[in-house]
Amino acid sequence: MFMPTSIANLGKDSGKTRPGRELPDDLDPQRLPQHVAVIMDGNGRWANHRGMPRIAGHRQGAKALKELVRCCKDWGVPALTAYAFSTENWRRPTEEVDFLMALFDKLLRRELKEMHREGVRISFVGDLSALAPSLQRTMENAMAQTADNTAVHFSVAVNYGSRSEMVNACRQVAAQVQSGELSLDEVTDEHIEQQLYTAGTVSPDLMIRTSGEQRLSNFLLWQLAYTELYFTDVFWPDFDRAAFADALRAFKGRDRRFGKAEDKVAASLTA
Ligand code: FPP
Repeated sequence: MFMPTSIANLGKDSGKTRPGRELPDDLDPQRLPQHVAVIMDGNGRWANHRGMPRIAGHRQGAKALKELVRCCKDWGVPALTAYAFSTENWRRPTEEVDFLMALFDKLLRRELKEMHREGVRISFVGDLSALAPSLQRTMENAMAQTADNTAVHFSVAVNYGSRSEMVNACRQVAAQVQSGELSLDEVTDEHIEQQLYTAGTVSPDLMIRTSGEQRLSNFLLWQLAYTELYFTDVFWPDFDRAAFADALRAFKGRDRRFGKAEDKVAASLTA
């Protein structure tokens, strides 16, 4: 089933270290991120440490992702974007690329019914036109079937690269200006945002990268402008509810100022 029994058995009183279906007591539902982005890194190393092939890490990573979607629903985090395949990932060995593409297709088909029943809206960001037509159809079907769901918006970045997303946006804006449809004054933050793959979604409040790497790797460069960044040494396949709770605790402790002065500094200036 969607939820491992070890998690299903955890109850409200399971404490901070073994969080279950309920939001851990020390987390405030009013201070949760509204959109979490994740760079799911460390699948290969997770497998390597166990003497397993890299693809075993991706398979386990997919289970961790599925569980995180459900956790977002249980705990009240309304949007999750996961970086599943970057424009640079095509450079990996063909067998690994083929495995990942087949895994996306298989999981989307297998989990669609369950996700739909859970109220998950599925969407994708990236240049999907480069993917196999059958995978594109699976994705379009998942998007269409779940389009009206409201419990969690689960967005998967596939063949995604932030720079090419921005180049596309620039081209669209340039063409609009060139045709006279748009004046230069109308080229604003908001207008550019509407040309991105993520148009219509709020920017992430929290970005999590696993496996100890501290880079953005061409992920949502525009959208992460004011996002809180959280890095953990946990390999992605081991990223469970307890690890997610730790990230949410770190987020809760952040003072988000969006470029403004700290409140006490502002008060001292006006005193
Ligand atoms: C990065 O770890 C992981 C990926 C490039 C693939 C992530 C994909 C999944 C978890 C499957 C998701 C499934 C769906 C349906 C979206 P890495 O291979 O770079 O690990 P390493 O840095 O240890 O080598």
